[in-house]
Amino acid sequence: MKKKLAVLLSGRGSNFEAIARAVREGKIDAEIAVVISNRPDARGLERAREMGIPSLCVPSRGVTREEYDEKLIEELRRHNPDLICLAGFMRLLSPAFIAAFRGRILNIHPSLLPAFPGLDAQRQAFDHGVRFTGCTVHFVDEGLDSGPIVMQAAVPVRDDDTVETLAERILEAEHATYPRAIALVLSGAYRIEGRRVVHRK
Ligand code: GRF
Repeated sequence: MKKKLAVLLSGRGSNFEAIARAVREGKIDAEIAVVISNRPDARGLERAREMGIPSLCVPSRGVTREEYDEKLIEELRRHNPDLICLAGFMRLLSPAFIAAFRGRILNIHPSLLPAFPGLDAQRQAFDHGVRFTGCTVHFVDEGLDSGPIVMQAAVPVRDDDTVETLAERILEAEHATYPRAIALVLSGAYRIEGRRVVHRK
């Protein structure tokens, strides 16, 4: 049976589109079972609708984190995903959520973790003056951008970069890296040793 992905997003959804492209091109051997957004106006939600991919909004306004995550768990269980891909999902997930899907949640972050976790990572890296930054795909645990690292791609910072041009190149790296990391995790060709995700050849 085809493996199932769930994608959670809050906005633009360009990583979701990169994942959908990789699925279409057979680079990810799975189907996107559902796209869920906490924001009704997320562009990614609209793109999912245009592509005919099942999508829905679980609005986060006015509910506690626990209530929200309970609802999210319920919706996700309905679709029974093998892997949940956070793609610009701007919410911290509760320990109950992590426990419900332990080892089956991935996130992409626009820096070389553990440098520059949290919001506005591209600007943090730019302002710090690093010569290299990039993106990281990692398993999600209870911490902030802290789970075991599946894949990273480095992006050099150019002298004539602005935060915007740098963010653009990081985003290109994200679109190439996230589908590859998802394919690897779905294939099961890795093992986790402590914090290290060791890829099997
Ligand atoms: C990306 O930079 C991703 O790394 C971060 O949020 C952004 C989402 O962009 N977690 P998009 O919605 O996929 O275009």
